[in-house]
Amino acid sequence: MADYDYDVLIIGSGPGGYVAAIRAAQLGLKTACVESRETLGGTCLNVGCIPSKAMLHASELYEEAAGGALAKLGVKIDKMSLDLDTMHAQRKDAVKGLTGGIEYLFKKNKVDWLKGRAAFVDKDTVDVAGKSYRAKNIVVATGSSVTPLPGVEVDNAKGVVVDSTGALELPKVPGHLVVVGGGVIGLELGSVWRRLGAKVTVVEFLDQILPGMDGDVRKEANKIFKKQGFEFKLSTKVSKVDVKGKKALLTVEPAAGGDAETIEADCVLIAIGRRPNTEGLALDKAGLAVNARGQIEIDHDFQTAVPGIWAIGDVVPGPMLAHKAEDEGIAVAENIAGEVGIVNHDVIPSVVYTWPEIAGVGLTEEAAKAKLAETGGAIKVGKFPMLGNSRAKTNHEPDGFVKVIADAATDRVLGVWCIASVAGTMIAEAALAMEFGATSEDIAYTCHAHPTHSEAIKEAAMAVRGKPIHV
Ligand code: FAD
Ligand code: NAI
Repeated sequence: MADYDYDVLIIGSGPGGYVAAIRAAQLGLKTACVESRETLGGTCLNVGCIPSKAMLHASELYEEAAGGALAKLGVKIDKMSLDLDTMHAQRKDAVKGLTGGIEYLFKKNKVDWLKGRAAFVDKDTVDVAGKSYRAKNIVVATGSSVTPLPGVEVDNAKGVVVDSTGALELPKVPGHLVVVGGGVIGLELGSVWRRLGAKVTVVEFLDQILPGMDGDVRKEANKIFKKQGFEFKLSTKVSKVDVKGKKALLTVEPAAGGDAETIEADCVLIAIGRRPNTEGLALDKAGLAVNARGQIEIDHDFQTAVPGIWAIGDVVPGPMLAHKAEDEGIAVAENIAGEVGIVNHDVIPSVVYTWPEIAGVGLTEEAAKAKLAETGGAIKVGKFPMLGNSRAKTNHEPDGFVKVIADAATDRVLGVWCIASVAGTMIAEAALAMEFGATSEDIAYTCHAHPTHSEAIKEAAMAVRGKPIHV
């Protein structure tokens, strides 16, 4: 240790980096975390998961009141209005509280926060704000940033063409918001502004929204969002965005080629994906390179090609999700400490926090079918509509379903997908069941509390063998 400043130095304090730092310190390792932002917590706490959920929650309550859903329950509000400044203030408050919480946890666990941008000097040394630090282990957890749309300039301060960070902070509700990209960010932030009164058009290059999700789920979600007032232009690409004062003029055309049309917007949200952050890190000085997608390749233990350098989170291959980064943060610290840190990448749940929520874990029906077909196997699928679930019905939440996909031969659950008001909470049960190698029968014969939305998971599991009760 004498030669080293730290046992572990982590670059980036997002959910991957800060969790790795705390775990490493808990394991008795002398730990530092480098972060160039003014606050800890990375994308997730500062401009991602947390502020978006603050706006989603508040806008959902607003729509329930403004749209008459509360009145139908006998909750009459005679005079109501939108106070967007207060809505933004509670978002900022949530961010401040949680990012401050990480700073407190760093102090509590004796993690040093090195403020500034880190760049490699060599394989065990990094430079931060003009000072060199030598560490026995270095973890790259630098996360990701917005993928730019070629030829289109984002200017969050101006507020006409924005990325997700700008879309969280719009000072007024746009008349017409055009979202480029029908993925998670487009639908979540599109929902926020639609609920607050904007007309929202989503331009998606592919023939369906939410790529990577189960086919049935994508179709059903599209139907539900259309019913809510979203307009979708699928199989469409944006070829140009001209900004004229406070308006934008988009030129769009069929993805396969054809006649172009123009759309006028008060705001354009570019949400076409995110790319790993490696610029300025001087990876070459450490002997590291990135793959064709700009990611740092790692092995099963999160080690890069250079011994002593590890990488986790959005900067490595896999889904760009906070909980995946967090679990990798714990595992990498445990591996560095000589313990066995493992993440089961086959069981990473994903949730879209719209209304209703959309959640899945494991394989889609399409992927499961293809995977089992390789060995001559087959799948069984059980589906249960939320309309048949007493709690959803009582709460006036008829949309959605649960789908359980199992191996036809072994009955082992391969994937679970839900569209339901609380799908994000429901999916935890499915993840736990899959982690324990459950069969659909195991879920079907597990007693679920009544009346809960989760009973729909039990009934979908029963449907795998063709025997649900309430349909
Ligand atoms: P990040 O959180 O990106 O953190 C990396 C940190 O490293 C950053 O703070 C950056 O400043 C710092 N950094 C980078 N380079 C350097 C350097 N050279 N020196 C010093 N510091 C550096 N995921 C979910 O699971 N659930 C959600 O609800 C969700 N909502 C999202 C909403 C939005 C709008 C966005 C944009 C993302 C959302 N995500 C969500 C994704 C989630 O934010 C990321 O998957 C997660 O933050 C990745 O964690 P990370 O630790 O890998 O990196
Ligand atoms: P995404 O990958 O979810 O969706 C991007 C969409 O844009 C895709 O449907 C893609 O086909 C489309 N697209 C790409 N190029 C296009 C073009 N030129 N024109 C039109 N459409 C185009 O990416 P998104 O929504 O930007 O989110 C980035 C990441 O952030 C996601 O991978 C997700 O993991 C994470 N995230 C997670 C959340 C959650 O867990 N609830 C919430 C928000 C973000």
